[in-house]
Amino acid sequence: MCVSRFIPLSFVIFAVLIFYRMNTGLVSENKASAAIPANIVMSGIRSTGFLHLGNYFGAIRNYVKMQESYECYFMVADLHSLTTHPDTKELRQNVHRVLAENIACGLNPDKAAIFCQSHVFETSELYLYLNMLAYKGELEKTVTFKEKARENPNNVNAGLLTYPVLQAADILLHRAVYVPVGKDQEQHLEMARNFANRFNHRYGEVFPEPVAFNFSEELIKIPSLDGTGKMSKSVNQNATLYLSDDDDTIRKKVMKAKTDGGPTQENSIKPDYIENIFLLLKLVSDEGFVKQQEEAYNNCSIRYGDLKKQLAEDMVNFISPIREKTSEILNDEKYLEQVMKKGAEKARESAGKTMGIVRQAMGLNYF
Ligand code: TRP
Repeated sequence: MCVSRFIPLSFVIFAVLIFYRMNTGLVSENKASAAIPANIVMSGIRSTGFLHLGNYFGAIRNYVKMQESYECYFMVADLHSLTTHPDTKELRQNVHRVLAENIACGLNPDKAAIFCQSHVFETSELYLYLNMLAYKGELEKTVTFKEKARENPNNVNAGLLTYPVLQAADILLHRAVYVPVGKDQEQHLEMARNFANRFNHRYGEVFPEPVAFNFSEELIKIPSLDGTGKMSKSVNQNATLYLSDDDDTIRKKVMKAKTDGGPTQENSIKPDYIENIFLLLKLVSDEGFVKQQEEAYNNCSIRYGDLKKQLAEDMVNFISPIREKTSEILNDEKYLEQVMKKGAEKARESAGKTMGIVRQAMGLNYF
């Protein structure tokens, strides 16, 4: 009798607790009286180089989806660029372009915080504290550090050495769990987890462990048009489709994409470079046309010239609205300023909260 009364009551209490947690979006409470928010996405975008189709399908398209269901912080990493590009003449122009291109692709300043790293002063403070938890040996072993030090032996500065610490500060500042980045950033992310854990161990649970995040879908790698590697911001520019390419350039690049004399046996396996063309076709062309071309390939009647002509037109139709929107945004400096201010405000609000918790956890609260 007693037991049967007890069970429903404990069940109700449990259900209420679960309901409360779901509604507040909290995953854990901790010593610093700071529950760690569960749904925060943070990523940094480099301000060097022009965006290309690979950036669009591999990253930005996912960011655009994430902003619908997560609290997102997307940042232009202008401070990071100082580690290798101390000359700031082109910085302003590059920052504006990256912002404009991302917004033209669908990032929405009303949904996500879109901001510049240098506008969030709290970053520098957290970077300082995390530097005390980062060891010279591990920093020197970082692959990107070794590469950059080799490329530019006359400027192996401490900022370059502590690049991963600054990146960890960017992420931990918002106590973000999800970090949409490519494979090349995995080591930096692992270091961010190490710094977060060391901090938590020494001063109390403040930071969640950030993890790479692809938002359910397989990450699409966009192959370059000549069949060698991926599209790239810096190398092989003739085989990369940039979001800033004009219509004729797009047509020329597509028409030059590598093909061959066509299959000679029915239903044969496609060579990589033909597979690549079909991948692009699937991304921008209409389903009926793709199907028809698949059939033509399988019965050996395919004509790559015609296929590429259609692909070129579909690519123009895909890229030109983004290019035009980008230049419209770039011409509206007032709008860009508003975006940056609004983004910085959102980011600083979140950063300010975290830094309050951090200072308290570290014992830097003297009054
Ligand atoms: N290092 C990243 C890159 O080269 C850019 C970056 C800076 C970043 N801060 C970040 C990425 C924070 C993710 C989270 O692409």
